[in-house]
Amino acid sequence: MLRHSAWLICTTLLLSACARDVPTSDGYDPARDYFSFANTDQFVTEHLALDLAVDFEARRLSGTARLDLRRLDPDATEVVLDTRDLHITSVLAFAPENAPLPAAFRFGDADTIKGTPLVIQLPEGMASAAAVSLKIAYATSPQSTALQWLPPELTAGGKHPMVFSQSQAIHARSWVPLQDTPAVRTTYEATITTASNLLAVMSADNDPLAPRDGSYTFTMPQPIPSYLLAIAVGNIYFAPIGAETGVYAEPELLEASVYEFADTQDMLEQAERLFGPYEWGRYDLLVLPPSFPYGGMENPRLSFITPSLLAGDRSLVAVIAHELAHSWSGNLVTNATWRDGWLNEGVTSYLESRLMEVIYDKDRADEERVIAYEELLLDFENVPLPMQALAPRLDDGDPDDFQGTIHYHKGQLFLQYLENAFGRDTFDEFIFGYFEHFAFKTITTERFLDYLDANLLSGANAKVSREQVEQWIYEPGLPGDAPVPKSATLDSAARLAGGWAVGEVAIGEVPVADWSPQALIHFINNLPSDLGNDRLEELDAAFGLSDTNNAEIARTWFIQVAERRYVRAYPQLEAYLARHGRGRLISPVYAALARNGVDLERAQSIFEKARANYHPLVANSLATILYPNNT
Ligand code: BES
Ligand code: ZN
Repeated sequence: MLRHSAWLICTTLLLSACARDVPTSDGYDPARDYFSFANTDQFVTEHLALDLAVDFEARRLSGTARLDLRRLDPDATEVVLDTRDLHITSVLAFAPENAPLPAAFRFGDADTIKGTPLVIQLPEGMASAAAVSLKIAYATSPQSTALQWLPPELTAGGKHPMVFSQSQAIHARSWVPLQDTPAVRTTYEATITTASNLLAVMSADNDPLAPRDGSYTFTMPQPIPSYLLAIAVGNIYFAPIGAETGVYAEPELLEASVYEFADTQDMLEQAERLFGPYEWGRYDLLVLPPSFPYGGMENPRLSFITPSLLAGDRSLVAVIAHELAHSWSGNLVTNATWRDGWLNEGVTSYLESRLMEVIYDKDRADEERVIAYEELLLDFENVPLPMQALAPRLDDGDPDDFQGTIHYHKGQLFLQYLENAFGRDTFDEFIFGYFEHFAFKTITTERFLDYLDANLLSGANAKVSREQVEQWIYEPGLPGDAPVPKSATLDSAARLAGGWAVGEVAIGEVPVADWSPQALIHFINNLPSDLGNDRLEELDAAFGLSDTNNAEIARTWFIQVAERRYVRAYPQLEAYLARHGRGRLISPVYAALARNGVDLERAQSIFEKARANYHPLVANSLATILYPNNT
């Protein structure tokens, strides 16, 4: 029902909202990045050199950023960069073979989401140079949205401070003045100075054997978009997993991390076989404290990872497969703007499922496919129709809020649809060729479409038309012939949930010991809504749900606990919300409390107690859920 009505509404009433590749009548240009002030049509950055000192006391990075720019417009006299909350002390400009000259600069109007443009006037005589370098002396402010400064008590060891960055989507500008758009790729180098007992790591050529002396240098010879710029400094140590893979973490987490992520080397090798050469050298993981706001972040050569994956049984490593897969979809072939985010997240989710299938087995991959599909169906109930397109109109709002599951799960399903239509071998060849063709390029949805058309759709064996593909890309909901993932194990878990709820199945007959966490999650999600608290107690006692160490099982359970007001488990729910900081784990639990009609104040008070532990990005988004009238 949903599918057909959605399609109809879009093609009749909302045609202008279903963005295509040409500017619409109201001037919206889908190829433009609406989230950057940079004048990238006049200058592009080719290289960035950072020299920064880390001051934990002042919660500040300070030093210089040198941007080497190539001129595109012979008449341009200004360079506009993105910044947010940066203190700029001076700007020097130099053209090759010329002495540096001070450049005048000013800030433009501040925007709460996009930050503040920094307008740099090129000195006379440099007005037509083909290459221009700018050396900017600056400092970050303690409220930099990219940086979380953790006092020792928020780390695993409790003795040393730590700082880490999260640049995606548009936070790089709060720690480096730059052209903060995925449309521009730059190589970079950096010198980072810190206390000699701490280690700095970056999204670059980390050297596991570097002497620990407080001064660290990095190079990133492959050009990357700004959102992949990353740094962390703390009491961090390294342990190897395989020849090209390893883990960085506080010593307290190192052994558990090596165990949990033991399959990473294997994943890397299988990924190369399926998707093409790994272009980045090493692939390491950095396991951060619980306040890291995401499950993982695909910073090149060094994915940043939440410690909530440390379940002890390797059951949550799909996130590692996902971040590794971004080494192709996202880091190698990059979305041109955040509107094209499905090229990063959707393609990656598909590759992730392929990796899970080859490293583990089809059953496990299918279980995760079904869970993703169910999340997607739920999202279709909540996301406004125009935003259900894979490539929607996106010129407003905060690109971070745009991280729903549409880009991920609908994108994954779209590629699964193509795979089903053309056959795995043909589709694998296409994917391999796609990464080769666009390596180190930044592309729009429409360039992808043209490539798809030329290399798959219009082959002798045409199975899918361009119109069918465009429905996936530009229309809400799902086409009528979209694949529906299936898992026999999950089907049986759902049946048992129904059977147990009506008393046909005894709790002891539910084979939970043989189940993956995903099957148990599915069982919980399929409990009928009218189950009494005494029945939830029976379940909790039998399966130990309130005390589980598996963060995904706990998430599913505590959403139910909050929705159904199973107050007996509220102490554990509260402990869970204090222990985790990853947005995916805690936001839906807070939202369920806030919406159950009784517990909004309780949710606010839990939040106030835990707030200092959360990353500012997560804390701010929780505040909009819990204090809806303040925003
Ligand atoms: N790149 C994303 C995280 C991200 C997206 C940060 C948008 C900021 C804006 C990362 O690869 C990701 O998707 N993480 C997921 C992992 C999951 C889908 C396996 C997460 O954190 O939950
Ligand atoms: Zn991702």
